[in-house]
Amino acid sequence: MAKQEQVLHLRQILNRPISLLFLLLALFLLLGVFLPWPESSSLFSFSNRVTSSSSSLESKWRDYSLSQAAKFVAKNGTVIVCAVSSPFLPFLNNWLISISRQKHQDKVLVIAEDYATLYKVNAKWPGHAVLVPPALDSKTAHSFGSQGFFNFTARRPQHLLQILELGYNVMYNDVDMVWLQDPFKYLEGSHDAYFTDDMPQIKPLNHSHDLPPFGQYGGTYMCSCFIFLRPTNGAKLLMKKWIEELQTQAWSESNRFKANDQPAFNLALQKTVHEVDLYLLSQVAFPTGGLYFKNETWVKETKGKHVIVHNNYIIGYENKMKRFQEYGLWLVDDHAFESPLGNLQ
Ligand SMILES: *[C@@H]1O[C@H](CO)[C@@H](O)[C@H](O)[C@H]1NC(C)=O
Ligand SMILES: *[C@@H]1O[C@H](CO)[C@@H](O)[C@H](O)[C@H]1NC(C)=O
Ligand SMILES: *[C@@H]1O[C@H](CO)[C@@H](O)[C@H](O)[C@H]1NC(C)=O
Ligand SMILES: *[C@@H]1O[C@H](CO)[C@@H](O)[C@H](O)[C@H]1NC(C)=O
Repeated sequence: MAKQEQVLHLRQILNRPISLLFLLLALFLLLGVFLPWPESSSLFSFSNRVTSSSSSLESKWRDYSLSQAAKFVAKNGTVIVCAVSSPFLPFLNNWLISISRQKHQDKVLVIAEDYATLYKVNAKWPGHAVLVPPALDSKTAHSFGSQGFFNFTARRPQHLLQILELGYNVMYNDVDMVWLQDPFKYLEGSHDAYFTDDMPQIKPLNHSHDLPPFGQYGGTYMCSCFIFLRPTNGAKLLMKKWIEELQTQAWSESNRFKANDQPAFNLALQKTVHEVDLYLLSQVAFPTGGLYFKNETWVKETKGKHVIVHNNYIIGYENKMKRFQEYGLWLVDDHAFESPLGNLQ
């Protein structure tokens, strides 16, 4: 009885032309899925796309180039860059909140040092992270102070040079910084390169904007933590010199903890001072952590004049975070919603 009803029902269906079309379509789909039929590859790739959407998204970001990324984020011909590996994501977010408050976050490009950072940032904020291969592998990442680690971080001026060659202004920041005001207002004139002094000795408010004379360490001690460059021949020359100095910098086990890119940056500044139009930013606006976190009297005296605070002159990740918390500069706990990345946890 039931079988007869089914047959009858099928007949009714087949008698209706639209239903017949559906049946044929269903049959076609069935064949398309189960038969090795190259022409139906669009059906296959559709189902592939559905089942592995995350990995195809990842391959999209893996192939995302620095020039594509710079073009995407640049506003008014300017890109703000930082370089970050996974452990520093909370600092990245903290820094981003402070930049968002000055409405410059749209120009930010995160140079991801590992794939986890690349995917995480782009998942929350598409297009704002790029990885310039090779990525930092976990072995190198854990050997802080090794030559491999040094070689890896030494690529920073190469990234900056590439962005200049593409024709953009570029501002580099370490992510252990917090913006209190808009730094762009302090980039006076049209000099090739703008940078800050990392020496904690107090200077008069009207100090010169020239590269200072050599100090007690027999050289200058400018910070490689904040640099603004215009896409001029002078700025490119400075980056090329920095790259050269990094390559010739003697690396040895004994100086491994000094082996960062700052000494080479200073040598490059000193050697190009007559060819490059350099501009030293004011100490009160861009104080080193060696001054800001160590002289309360000075901070009170100069209240309202600070633009970017750098959390350096301290060792250890936890200590750095604690210090930001003590000074009310750790924004991620209460203000994560102000970051384009939101709450990263
Ligand atoms: C671009 O520059 C103009 C003129 O200086 C300024 O008004 C505008 O706010 C800038 N846009 C961004 C996104 O910074
Ligand atoms: C680091 O770079 C130097 C100079 O370019 C090279 O001689 C050395 O083999 C590199 N070491 C590692 C571990 O990558
Ligand atoms: C800074 O101001 C002092 C006192 O007003 C003056 O003597 C000095 O020449 C100024 N320095 C610079 C670099 O302008
Ligand atoms: C701290 O700042 C005050 C006020 O500017 C200054 O007089 C003093 O010399 C500074 N202390 C040190 C240790 O630099």
